Amino acid sequence: MRDLMIVLGIETTCDETAAAVVERLEDGRGRILSNVVLSQVNEHAAFGGVVPEIAARAHVEVLDVVIADAMAQAGRDYDAVDGIAAAAGPGLIGGVIVGLTTAKAIALVKNKPLIAVNHLEAHALTARLTNGTAFPYCLFLASGGHTQILAVRGVGDYVRLGTTQDDAIGEAFDKTAKLLGLGFPGGPRVEKEAANGDATRFRLPRPMHGRKDADFSLSGLKTALRLEAEKIAPLTDQDVADLCAGFQQAIVDVVFDRLRAGLMLFRARFGAPTALVAAGGVAANQAIRKVLNRLAFEVGATLVVPPPELCTDNGAMIAWAGCERLALGLTDSLDTAPRARWPLDEIAAAEGALRRTAAYK
Ligand code: KG4
Ligand code: ZN
Repeated sequence: MRDLMIVLGIETTCDETAAAVVERLEDGRGRILSNVVLSQVNEHAAFGGVVPEIAARAHVEVLDVVIADAMAQAGRDYDAVDGIAAAAGPGLIGGVIVGLTTAKAIALVKNKPLIAVNHLEAHALTARLTNGTAFPYCLFLASGGHTQILAVRGVGDYVRLGTTQDDAIGEAFDKTAKLLGLGFPGGPRVEKEAANGDATRFRLPRPMHGRKDADFSLSGLKTALRLEAEKIAPLTDQDVADLCAGFQQAIVDVVFDRLRAGLMLFRARFGAPTALVAAGGVAANQAIRKVLNRLAFEVGATLVVPPPELCTDNGAMIAWAGCERLALGLTDSLDTAPRARWPLDEIAAAEGALRRTAAYK
């Protein structure tokens, strides 16, 4: 076990091709030596969402340059690197294969340990890189692909308190934007429109409201919005703004209710959380940020929101998770398989499946 280490991290699970070099200092804190992110937003914009095949091909085309850039910007060569980390899932499998295979090749050629990182674990541990947040804490992860509330108890020790039964929050923003012709990615555009809209004009549902569990369901909200839009089509600019405002307010209310339930579950099982950590692109939304502040205040926790470039997908979070794992001697063999699905808390996932099966009986 070593205290001081340097890890190269590779991220290719969605539409960002990213590589970074991160150093873990002797006191356990982290320092980012380089963080290169190449977004494929333009490649996918015409389709209103990420197209897996296009993503995989784009990763292949640029990953070697992105890695070379990250190494050059860090000013280190491979001799100084202690491990090669890559996101091995969950994500779009074509992209995951590209990143993991590249990491394996570098690890093999340079004779370095491989660290196969769970992408969600990397989001979960980012607050420790940026803020040195101590375990345990409550994580609210909301991106285009994930919506989860987790108890983060230690490296490799996560308990899922809530998740979405259908769409992720970012996905709901993206689909709303697509429906209203606002383009991709939808979150920032819906937020901008919402600023000029009347949130009370349309009656939209708040799915799962008041339930004791901390799960989300957003497909009903999406359908309700579509029906309202169809009723008044063709839409004026004001209609679009009002629909966006109504949608965003519904999401804000849902996040408040569901995350509050998640924090209650956290408290019941692990005691009062000292920190509420946000991750994922959705945390950039100012209205949602306000709700997080309010909830953190309510439960007496510190709100930790890493800077936007570290909240969204990036290589530094993979490299940092690699550091945290390597420091504990957790490395992976070169035949580690890429995974499209990889719940952080496999046990909780199994429990959830059992619960759902029981409900059908
Ligand atoms: O974490 P991220 O960059 O990528 C992954 O999905 O992994 O998150 C992107 C998601 C998109 O769905 C985007 O619409 C959403 O985050 N998003 C937002 C905002 N900015 C980005 N959603 C709501 N409001 C925003 N300001
Ligand atoms: Zn992500």
